[in-house]
Amino acid sequence: MRHRVAEDHMSLNGQRILLVGGSSGMGLATARTAALEGARVTIASSRQDRVDAALRELPDGCAGIAVDVRDETQVANALERVGAIDHLVFTAGDSFTPRRLAELDLAAAQGMLAVRFWGAVTVIKHAITRLRPTGSITLMTGTVGQRPVSGAALAAAGAGAAEALVKGLAVELAPVRVNAVRAGAIRTPMWDRVPEPQRDAILARLAQNTLVGSVGEPEHIAMAHLYLMRNDYVTGTVLDVNGGSLLTAA
Ligand SMILES: NC(=O)c1ccc[n+]([C@@H]2O[C@H](COP(=O)([O-])OP(=O)(O)OC[C@H]3O[C@@H](n4cnc5c(N)ncnc54)[C@H](OP(=O)(O)O)[C@@H]3O)[C@@H](O)[C@H]2O)c1
Repeated sequence: MRHRVAEDHMSLNGQRILLVGGSSGMGLATARTAALEGARVTIASSRQDRVDAALRELPDGCAGIAVDVRDETQVANALERVGAIDHLVFTAGDSFTPRRLAELDLAAAQGMLAVRFWGAVTVIKHAITRLRPTGSITLMTGTVGQRPVSGAALAAAGAGAAEALVKGLAVELAPVRVNAVRAGAIRTPMWDRVPEPQRDAILARLAQNTLVGSVGEPEHIAMAHLYLMRNDYVTGTVLDVNGGSLLTAA
């Protein structure tokens, strides 16, 4: 039987969207785009000052909440305050410095997945009962999982784990849909941690390693997030948004 497209689900107007990691970068771009389409947006991240600064940039009516996704009690309380949601988008990620495994003690190695992977698991666990059956979850991964540089094995493992989690949860949580966006290099505040002039040099090299000749902007990811929230026939997928960087010579 032909799948009947539920047009009311394809519009984000009035939909409740929680963006964890929504105070910066890709999450903030998605928050802005979704809010302009009439969605009821709540952003969340660990620092209240960053949440407040982001809310000043967003259209009126958006809400914000401070929560450190490494702390399950904070996550449970935050999800309780947020209530029912249609779509959860998780883009939270902390700073990552490439380090070879031999130079890492095990606690530091485990800590590298604390926000990106275990944070996502924790938020999803506490969001499940609040997600509407017509809703979706979207996680964030990166091309590092497909083409890691030396020192990025743990980051690659985190990306691979998140992509496998997407498939497992798509089956387990159906009809709620679960997907991920696998991003190439995107110009966001994450890169501010790299001092100039190295930052420009790295981004220029990463731009050369694409087919389109540039790094991405947060709005490129926002478009992917909106597609995955709207299209109610897409689940268990990983959507590449990378300017073709996986098809160039290393
Ligand atoms: N930019 C790229 O080139 C790129 C490419 C591929 C994948 N990624 C990944 O995509 C994700 C988003 O990246 P982005 O570039 O948008 O980064 P970003 O601009 O630095 O934003 C990261 C967000 O995560 C939040 N966050 C960090 N630690 C948190 C915690 N413990 N609890 C809750 N929120 C936390 C930050 O807010 P607070 O500081 O307030 O906590 C911020 O809102 C990251 O996982 C990143 O590794 C990035």
